[in-house]
Amino acid sequence: MQVTKITEIIKEAEKVKTFKFDLEAKGKPGQFVMVWVPGVDEKPMSLSYPTGKMGITVLLEGPFSKQLGRLNVGDRVGIRGPYGRGFRVAGSNLLLVGGGVGTAPLAPLAEKAISKGKKVTAVIGAKTRNELVFVERIRNAGARVFVTTDDGSEGSRGFTTDKTRELLEEGSFDQCYVCGPEIMMFKLLEQTKARGIPTQLSLVRYFKCGIGVCGHCALDYSGIRVCREGPVLSDNELEEVSEFGRYWRSPSGVKIYF
Ligand SMILES: Cc1cc2nc3c(=O)[nH]c(=O)nc-3n(C[C@H](O)[C@H](O)[C@H](O)COP(=O)(O)OP(=O)(O)OC[C@H]3O[C@@H](n4cnc5c(N)ncnc54)[C@H](O)[C@@H]3O)c2cc1C
Ligand code: FES
Repeated sequence: MQVTKITEIIKEAEKVKTFKFDLEAKGKPGQFVMVWVPGVDEKPMSLSYPTGKMGITVLLEGPFSKQLGRLNVGDRVGIRGPYGRGFRVAGSNLLLVGGGVGTAPLAPLAEKAISKGKKVTAVIGAKTRNELVFVERIRNAGARVFVTTDDGSEGSRGFTTDKTRELLEEGSFDQCYVCGPEIMMFKLLEQTKARGIPTQLSLVRYFKCGIGVCGHCALDYSGIRVCREGPVLSDNELEEVSEFGRYWRSPSGVKIYF
């Protein structure tokens, strides 16, 4: 573990902040780090800035993330990683779909894909406009961006999957990438599977070790460890996973249904 200082804090949305660290990152979009806040806990966070000055983007909602949100520039945290398997850039016409803070790892993916000459369309959704993350960053990277909000306060009213249904009918995407609430990812996968579009999904499970040792994040009944073989999994890999879209396991291993 490296102990490092927070060098910059950026408010991205009402309850979302980006924290940049005094570390040079050599990660890939979709990889994560384990972030330790002394005296509080250690949790996985996707890299929203996987190269250059390392950064993460956090929804300040629960006990750990709220404590992280109280830290200031100059405060210290511990970082392990980057770990896990990130997104693979494949195909030439890409569809990226992000829900809420799930957009965090998709922003650097959009930047990387566009720098490699790929055409990128992104659908970014949130419950309401002040929960939208990285819309401008992804647009500035050169992507065609569509916004959806559940309450219609920005972009089109409805879910990301309402927009993707339209886009998939008109477009000829050859690869899809998604990160967000699992129910959203489950519904999107139904759409892309029906059209035979390869899809990469970034999964969230409760992590303890983060390095493939404890087995807590293993998926029924495949045994795939989300921290090690994931967090980015392909549609094919999920075929063997019976819990996807149904439940996850609490810190004590109890099934929690979505
Ligand atoms: C690979 C990976 C990458 C992640 N990247 C990010 C990121 O970029 N930004 C970010 O804000 N968070 C990210 N998370 C989630 C993060 O690790 C914490 O779970 C989150 O910050 C909540 O922690 P908390 O203690 O603040 O709140 P908690 O009290 O732990 O949780 C708040 C709410 O979320 C629910 N919850 C907690 N854990 C899970 C889970 N595993 N699955 C479903 N629901 C859960 C709880 O029931 C509660 O309702 C990531 C998780 C993983 C596994
Ligand atoms: S969190 Fe321990 S194996 Fe994944």
